[in-house]
Amino acid sequence: MKILIVGAGGREHAIAWKISQNEKVNKIFAAPGNAYNKVIKNCENINISATDDILKFAEQEKIDLTIVGSEELLVDGIVDKFHEKGLKIFGPDKKVAMLEGSKAFAKDFMQKYGVKTAKYKSFTEKEKAIKYLEEMSYPVVIKASGLAAGKGVIICQNEKEALEALDEIMTNKIFASAGDTVVIEEFLDGVEVSILSITDSKVILPFLSAKDHKKIFEGEQGLNTGGMGVISPNPYYTKEVEEKFVRDILEPTLKGIKEEKFDFCGIIFFGLMIARGEVYLLEYNMRMGDPETQAVLPLLESDYLELIEAAIDRKLENFDIKWKNSASCCVVLAAGGYPVKYEKGNIISGLEKFENNRDAKVFFAGVKESGNNFTTNGGRVLNVVSVQDSAEKAREVAYKELEKIQFKDKYFRKDIGLIK
Ligand code: AMP
Ligand code: GLY
Repeated sequence: MKILIVGAGGREHAIAWKISQNEKVNKIFAAPGNAYNKVIKNCENINISATDDILKFAEQEKIDLTIVGSEELLVDGIVDKFHEKGLKIFGPDKKVAMLEGSKAFAKDFMQKYGVKTAKYKSFTEKEKAIKYLEEMSYPVVIKASGLAAGKGVIICQNEKEALEALDEIMTNKIFASAGDTVVIEEFLDGVEVSILSITDSKVILPFLSAKDHKKIFEGEQGLNTGGMGVISPNPYYTKEVEEKFVRDILEPTLKGIKEEKFDFCGIIFFGLMIARGEVYLLEYNMRMGDPETQAVLPLLESDYLELIEAAIDRKLENFDIKWKNSASCCVVLAAGGYPVKYEKGNIISGLEKFENNRDAKVFFAGVKESGNNFTTNGGRVLNVVSVQDSAEKAREVAYKELEKIQFKDKYFRKDIGLIK
């Protein structure tokens, strides 16, 4: 089989690594990929990233299956275009991808089907939004409804901050048209859980839980990032939390999918908040998380390609996903200065120590091949992942192994997986 993986980060490397374990796969193309193609067998990079170029390539190369890593192209309708040409692709169509592409649409869906979520209202007119603030207590959360590369959420501690946020989003258009609609919602104070899942619109099969660490500094301080590390399973995801998630979120979501006649196969990533003894849904993402994927896929015992094919064939009902009885810890090695200003092009050393390393693996996030070297090529550079019998051990080994890698200004959080 020829597989095309769309995207350029550590998540896509992890997907390619897992998919390549299936013997049916004899070629993987990465569009545009990163230097991970150098460490996966029969993997080639194609320097394209626009929907129409990807479609043309898939047609010409007779790609058997395309997997899309990130949300932009899904929201843009890449799946619809592949289907029009009769090509196989894993992911939601444009309409369903709105569950991620429009927070207002997602919240309305949650409300309609009784999915437990924070109280909210959506606005296109600033005056009405300001009026609604009078009903809210602080902190309040103000969100640009459209895609804003994970930056569109502003937590406001008081009325002054809330008015400023509305000004920035609705008048100054800091998120461009993504801020044409804003969602104002109550702030939930609690612990977050990421649940990736796979669906064929008939069932939703959840993966092992994960805990992301979104802020740049230890103790969840500083600016938001794409994610600085993950442990899986999430230690806060108890049996009781799981029951509430299934009853209050997963089941009503599936009911909504059926009633709305959303016919798709793909990933649903539930961003949960455990607060006030309840489990709330903050958001749906319609693709895998980065870096959640890098921690969760190494725990998957089942064949990932078979799982995806079962979803495409609408046969997930009979698929018994097998997981390792282990825990994983993924630590992101970033370039100093990320997420603001950082250097690219610094030589990375020590990667050869992971070639036959049974203790840890390394996924490439922002890595480029330059001559005989691998060099840094992004804010998040590498993901070091260890799978062990316990979360403590996984943490310990991941931190020990990452010392083998060096590059200028290497930065990582030292508290990934530490439970307060
Ligand atoms: P979202 O894109 O909606 O998941 O929001 C991004 C991040 O903002 C989440 O992962 C949370 O850390 C935070 N967040 C979003 N909504 C809320 C809320 N209602 N209460 C508290 N934090 C929130
Ligand atoms: N790690 C969070 C995300 O992928 O959205």
